[in-house]
Amino acid sequence: MSTYRIAVIGGTGPQGRGLAYRWARAGHTVLIGSRSAERAEATAAEIRDRAPGASVASGVNDAVAREAEVVLLAVPYDGHDALVASLAPVLADTTVISCVNPLGFDAQGPYGLDVPGGSAAEEAASLLPDAHLVAAFHHVSAPSLWKSSDPLAHEDVLVCGDDDCAKAVAIELARCVTGRDGVDAGRLRMARQLEPLTAVLISVNKRYKVRSGVAISGLPR
Ligand SMILES: NC(=O)c1ccc[n+]([C@@H]2O[C@H](COP(=O)([O-])OP(=O)(O)OC[C@H]3O[C@@H](n4cnc5c(N)ncnc54)[C@H](OP(=O)(O)O)[C@@H]3O)[C@@H](O)[C@H]2O)c1
Repeated sequence: MSTYRIAVIGGTGPQGRGLAYRWARAGHTVLIGSRSAERAEATAAEIRDRAPGASVASGVNDAVAREAEVVLLAVPYDGHDALVASLAPVLADTTVISCVNPLGFDAQGPYGLDVPGGSAAEEAASLLPDAHLVAAFHHVSAPSLWKSSDPLAHEDVLVCGDDDCAKAVAIELARCVTGRDGVDAGRLRMARQLEPLTAVLISVNKRYKVRSGVAISGLPR
């Protein structure tokens, strides 16, 4: 397996921290990004505590993005476009993975938002025309990533994108989470289906008091 320098934008949140932890444990170099260098370093220190010997550094978002070969967007959809646009100058030729789920919550529970650009991932791709954008890791829950280091062997990571090389990177990085390759779910526009599917998982979690995930049957393993 290749090792990558991976920057996590919004790495102080539970999802970015959880994926960063899994990737750092697997031997990748991880750079935690934040709008605040202090917050980024606090999260990097937490990960180093959980994964002694792992290579985990930190910085403000654009600084870590500039240094990385692979960048994870792990920020809320609210404010996403402005943040992503601000990173465009440093993300040319970079593999960018979006796990952003544009969700709303009302009295009936979670739901997928209507996204003007189709999906958060497609909006990011439009804002980052020189980057290689894929979407993945929408359905693995932050507590599952952080609370244990065991592979989430009962789950699959679905990956979609229009750039085969970038997709291969995300498919490979899924191994650090589930213990097996991510599943190629098709072109980037499939993010329109993948992102709001998370609302279904949250509903199931609430009903059954579980942390559900997605597993695809019928694949050759
Ligand atoms: N939580 C999950 O289980 C889960 C699972 C799958 C996918 N996701 C998706 O992953 C993304 C991150 O989830 P999360 O739960 O970690 O989110 P979060 O805690 O709400 O946000 C992550 C980080 O984003 C930064 N941030 C917040 N608002 C921002 C803004 N307007 N502009 C720039 N940065 C901002 C904050 O970091 P600083 O203040 O340090 O900059 C924050 O710690 C979301 O899109 C979510 O839908 C989450």
